[in-house]
Amino acid sequence: MSRENVILIGFMGAGKTSVGQALAKASGRPLLDTDSLIEEEASMTISQIFAVQGEQAFRETESRVIARLLDQTHGAVISTGGGLPLRQENRERLRKLGTVVFLRVKPETVLERLKGDTTRPLLQGGDVEEKVQDLLTYRDPLYEQAAHQVVDVDERTVEEIVRILIETDGSEEDRRVEDRREEAEG
Ligand code: S3P
Repeated sequence: MSRENVILIGFMGAGKTSVGQALAKASGRPLLDTDSLIEEEASMTISQIFAVQGEQAFRETESRVIARLLDQTHGAVISTGGGLPLRQENRERLRKLGTVVFLRVKPETVLERLKGDTTRPLLQGGDVEEKVQDLLTYRDPLYEQAAHQVVDVDERTVEEIVRILIETDGSEEDRRVEDRREEAEG
């Protein structure tokens, strides 16, 4: 794999953290996780940050963290919080930071994996199925915009995904994303 950073983006439950850990190990790179960096900096969990400071403050911190990584980080695997690519400025920063891999997940997989989860403030209470659907419909095009490579995770194990990432090294699917982008732009 090239020595630039590899950044994993995608929805909650897509496996960014577990794929990140396995990829870091397999490629001998350090692993950074934006949610963990934010929790350390705030000395609070993500749930506490949402409860005490609110989502907007969390998003500001996310943007600061990714700007800082852009100055300081090379050759790492970076897993990100599911909402980090929502701001255009962050999508631009992510693409400058390295190869961006979108781990694409279907709503039914998210629901199965996150059943009973209490750590994602955006999915607590109400109709979780509808929330996941709505968020995915809005976010998937934004994840695609940020991505150099897209990997569908639903039918794949963590090991299979890592193998794909090491073998393709952002190249094969990259062209497909670029083609689609060119088509969309006419
Ligand atoms: C969020 C995803 C979470 C965390 C926060 C908000 C989101 O990270 O950053 O709860 O907006 O999708 P994971 O994607 O690691 O669950």
